[in-house]
Amino acid sequence: MPTARKLYLAPSLLSANFTQLGDDVRMLEEAGADFLHVDVMDGHFVPNITIGPPVVAALRKVTELPLDCHLMISDPDRYLEDFAQAGATFITVHVEAALHLHRTIDRIRQLGCRPGVTLNPATSLSTLEDILPYVDLVLLMSVEPGFGGQAFIPTLFRRAARVRQMLADCGHEDCLIEADGGIKLENIRDVYESGVDVVVSGSGIFGTPDPKLTMKQMRAELLDF
Ligand code: DX5
Ligand code: ZN
Repeated sequence: MPTARKLYLAPSLLSANFTQLGDDVRMLEEAGADFLHVDVMDGHFVPNITIGPPVVAALRKVTELPLDCHLMISDPDRYLEDFAQAGATFITVHVEAALHLHRTIDRIRQLGCRPGVTLNPATSLSTLEDILPYVDLVLLMSVEPGFGGQAFIPTLFRRAARVRQMLADCGHEDCLIEADGGIKLENIRDVYESGVDVVVSGSGIFGTPDPKLTMKQMRAELLDF
């Protein structure tokens, strides 16, 4: 049965070639990426360090695609303005890292960006309940954050279905559900079917011989829905 629900593909730049980021962005645009997923890690909230606002600003100059900034950092409030000024579209913060989550989400919106909230795989969905009406996106991690190329944790399926129900219950169906970690051509259909709108994939795209073809195949997996 056809569905009205759109699938957004959000390739993660973490698996791109950083020496030729501009070329990779062009390739992703041609392949029909909907968002560019930007993984920001601080070596404190997660045991890895990646990129920050200067790279977001550089990306903003070469693409009009929405920049989906996933902040895996402690004390995200300190950097919200920097990411907004750099041109972030979505700014998503971890519930485990934001001490005053409502204020943080409010601030992201004030700065002209779209606020998102994200949960590690074992964080209770009950932590979402009171922030859900205020966010544009819920990002469910399907790996522990910190590295690309990890194995998918299948509890994502029931978590996505549950969040979809929670959104329906509070009349906020416009909010996007995003999944991140271990998603590849082989499981993208199951992920979508569980209720996810935005699929992040890093190694599942860049780790294949022909990333453009892989993205095309990912969409084709869902055509008969
Ligand atoms: C993990 C990051 C992911 C990562 C996904 O901490 O948040 O966005 O890039 O990579 P894959 O798709 O390889 O699991
Ligand atoms: Zn991410």
